[in-house]
Amino acid sequence: MGMSRRDFTLLMSSATAALVTPRALAAPLRVRRGIQTLSPAELDVFRAGIREMKTLPIEDFRSWTYQANVHGDGARIDPAATDFLTYWKQCKHHSPHFLTWHRWYLLFWEEILRQLADDCHFTLPYWDYIVDNFLPEPLRLPADSAANPLYRNNRNPDFNAGLAGISGLNTDALDIVDFGMFSDAFESNPHGLVHSQSGGSMADVDSAARDPEFFIHHCNIDRYWECWIRQGGGRAHPGSPWRDEKFPFHSVTGRREAMVADALRTEDLGYTYDTMSCSRSVSWMLPDWVRELQFERLPWRKPPQPDPPPWVEILEMPQHTIDGKPTAVVVSRAEFLRAGGANARRVAVILHDVVSLSGKDTGGFSLEIALAPDAKRIAMNDFRDVAPVNAFGSFELSVLARHAEHHGSSALVFELPARALKALSAAGDEFALVFFRRGLVDREGRPRPFDAKQPLFRIGATRLAVQ
Ligand code: C2O
Repeated sequence: MGMSRRDFTLLMSSATAALVTPRALAAPLRVRRGIQTLSPAELDVFRAGIREMKTLPIEDFRSWTYQANVHGDGARIDPAATDFLTYWKQCKHHSPHFLTWHRWYLLFWEEILRQLADDCHFTLPYWDYIVDNFLPEPLRLPADSAANPLYRNNRNPDFNAGLAGISGLNTDALDIVDFGMFSDAFESNPHGLVHSQSGGSMADVDSAARDPEFFIHHCNIDRYWECWIRQGGGRAHPGSPWRDEKFPFHSVTGRREAMVADALRTEDLGYTYDTMSCSRSVSWMLPDWVRELQFERLPWRKPPQPDPPPWVEILEMPQHTIDGKPTAVVVSRAEFLRAGGANARRVAVILHDVVSLSGKDTGGFSLEIALAPDAKRIAMNDFRDVAPVNAFGSFELSVLARHAEHHGSSALVFELPARALKALSAAGDEFALVFFRRGLVDREGRPRPFDAKQPLFRIGATRLAVQ
């Protein structure tokens, strides 16, 4: 019998890994690969594992629904069942444990699948949407969840049919050295964009892990974290108490308190990735149609109650509704400087009380925020200096709603990345925040048709904050 490509990869990787880690001497590392490289037989194993998970009753921690609820759904929590209280609805978002918690979650999930599919070679594949922003075919075809457990019928229909892909993905976050800032920026783009634009279960934190797409998405997020670590970022991981944090999980061998310190090297967890050279998005571009910008001169004023540090909120724009038309909200530079912007090292856009107005549709879009350093220039259709701030969609709003459950109020905080901060320092008399809808695009990058008049979000207050 000849050696399959996978055996070869395994051998290769254990040979290389043996040089660097003693653990590899004991057991070869499992190699997680891009989903496009899986053979039909390997995809069958993936499908068989999910099918098995779905046959188990919800009380079984290995079942599909139990595992989905570990990530997200609190609706079915029975207060008498303390087990559920401990193990469900545990995912960490906009917290310094976004990456660590999800790493452990995938590891135990993959282990369950490996056991149920009865194939000790199975590793979770990843979807590299920076290379191909269209949903990989195995998750779309056959388009029938009985025949294909990787298919889910409530995703955005264009996306699920392979007619449209995610737009606006950006990997600038990889250049951030500070761990917390890297993690937060990365959590919004690309992570949140993929959730919100996929639509359906994926677009809400409570239901996201009911869609198999979740796992190939997060496998890629985990891989990008690994890329960031290997380019030197690992040195910026915080120390205690961050490292000592423990999360409750079930592993196939029993209950487990999974510790952050043990998750910082994938080799210690027994796996690696086939490639650690993570592709970057080549450039950040405004879609062409953003040129049909509407300008709004809304009053900015001093916010009544500045938030507690670290952010000091200096300017506030009252309630504002966003629809599918791109909007520029103009800010006077003098006013910004006077209010406290003059000595700022860091600047953030903070959105309070954001409400989705698009109803429970199937998602498929996110709202992008950009900074135009000179409002006069964009009025003349010169968009050269416009720099991305970040983006959010229904996924972030669902995270925010959950956050509000525990902490009262909460807000979306977007720190200006280096490029936008630089643009701001070169600002004209007036700069502008540009808001525009970023939705699914076809293979040529053209947006799928949408109703520009449909109201998308109401933002209770937009504030500029400094440190
Ligand atoms: Cu906890 Cu992408 O979600």
